[in-house]
Amino acid sequence: YGDASQKVDYVFKVVLIGDSAVGKSQILARFARDEFSLDSKATIGVEFQTRTLVIQHKSVKAQIWDTAGQERYRAVTSAYYRGAVGALLVYDITKRQTFEHIPRWLEELRGHADKNIVIMLVGNKIDLEDQRAVATEDAKEFAEKEGLFFLETSALDSTNVETAFNTVLNEIF
Ligand code: GTP
Ligand code: MG
Repeated sequence: YGDASQKVDYVFKVVLIGDSAVGKSQILARFARDEFSLDSKATIGVEFQTRTLVIQHKSVKAQIWDTAGQERYRAVTSAYYRGAVGALLVYDITKRQTFEHIPRWLEELRGHADKNIVIMLVGNKIDLEDQRAVATEDAKEFAEKEGLFFLETSALDSTNVETAFNTVLNEIF
């Protein structure tokens, strides 16, 4: 966790996208505050949190934006993507539909974001392995085809949450 008094060398905006209830807000809560809540409410509009990290001796402030997966609560799309240098494209490994919607999210992302944006496909909720509905191989194959990074995470037990953000931030850097 960064020291607030430290000078910031870079600010990187990273956006979270994906269907409602896949765990975007809890992934952010885990990364920014090391917190998790099982009764997380659906996001309305846009929220963001920051965390300052050191990458190659430079202080990097990650500004992570989170919006609603539900259409009716979503923020103005172009403003959300503006200036983003990284994106986490999240689905829920226990809900096949959330994976099937990934191409649509990717299309929206590519239509609005900078062409050099670093994208990580994230299969969340791997603590629920017994309810898995999306094979790791299927997601891996999709990610390779589309040139995305790919990881499976759990905001609940912290698996790979740090790694997901760190991979994106290091790649941006
Ligand atoms: P919207 O704001 O509506 O777009 O949803 P969201 O993607 O932000 O989902 P949110 O983070 O609010 O999580 C939805 C539900 O899934 C909540 O009950 C969370 O506690 C739960 N959840 C999130 N991540 C995990 C996880 O890794 N494992 C498990 N078991 N539950 C999770
Ligand atoms: Mg949310």
